[in-house]
Amino acid sequence: MHRTLGLIGSGMIGTSIARLAISAGFGVVVSNSRGPETLADLVTELGGQARAATPAEAARAADLVVAAIPLVAHRKLPAAALAGKTVLDTANYYPERDGHLTELDTGASTSSALIQRHLADSHVVKAFNTITPHQLLSLARPADATDRSALPIAGDNASAKAEATHLLNRLGYDAVDIGPLTDSWRTEPNTPAYIRPYLGEIPATDVDAFLRWTRQTPGIPVPATQLTELIEAAVRQTAGEAKLPSAD
Ligand SMILES: NC(=O)c1ccc[n+]([C@@H]2O[C@H](COP(=O)([O-])OP(=O)(O)OC[C@H]3O[C@@H](n4cnc5c(N)ncnc54)[C@H](OP(=O)(O)O)[C@@H]3O)[C@@H](O)[C@H]2O)c1
Repeated sequence: MHRTLGLIGSGMIGTSIARLAISAGFGVVVSNSRGPETLADLVTELGGQARAATPAEAARAADLVVAAIPLVAHRKLPAAALAGKTVLDTANYYPERDGHLTELDTGASTSSALIQRHLADSHVVKAFNTITPHQLLSLARPADATDRSALPIAGDNASAKAEATHLLNRLGYDAVDIGPLTDSWRTEPNTPAYIRPYLGEIPATDVDAFLRWTRQTPGIPVPATQLTELIEAAVRQTAGEAKLPSAD
């Protein structure tokens, strides 16, 4: 179905997605804000099926695109180059990092709906936002594994969600469809499905130590039945209360 995955944003979560995609046989085009030349080491590490480009070039080259950038940068996503494409959005809103956005602080919108508004001619699917980069790698399993995990998706277009489900399946995960983007608050930061189920007890520490700790932790499989219960248990809260995980 898909042959080339485009990455806009090739940091922690984007790189993990790129690694899984290469393992699954995709061609991968990575991009960032600083230019393709700054991604030479990553391209070398990913191997012959990877190359670097600008965000617009990555968008045009790809059958399917992942936007793995801070929410604050979402208006810089190349809307024209992404027109007609499915865009998987990994972003989470953290006011301390992204600055305050009134629509999110009041619960009037969701972060993915803001991205959909900017990418009016694309189909946005929220995905990959509930799992830390190392666990995304360590918990990936073949389709028939008894300890396969699931990840939530949300979106307004059924075909785009089918594409996202197919991608997740190839990368080692089941998908749980939580509904349209208006319902995607159910997997935003500080909800029951967010990060913790895949990690277990998180030690109280600072952000850097938290990230180091996640790299030494294998992670806990979260099957689709458990994930569905966690999503249903979510209670609407204002996103303005969200704190980076380690700052809880
Ligand atoms: N880390 C996690 O545990 C995790 C898990 C799930 C979801 N998320 C979410 O996923 C998003 C990315 O997180 P991350 O941890 O991967 O961040 P990160 O490591 O800081 O990487 C961010 C990437 O986005 C790129 N970028 C920034 N502005 C851009 C622009 N205008 N155009 C193209 N690329 C741009 C950066 O490129 P430069 O370095 O060149 O600026 C970098 O490659 C965030 O919204 C985060 O909340 C993170």
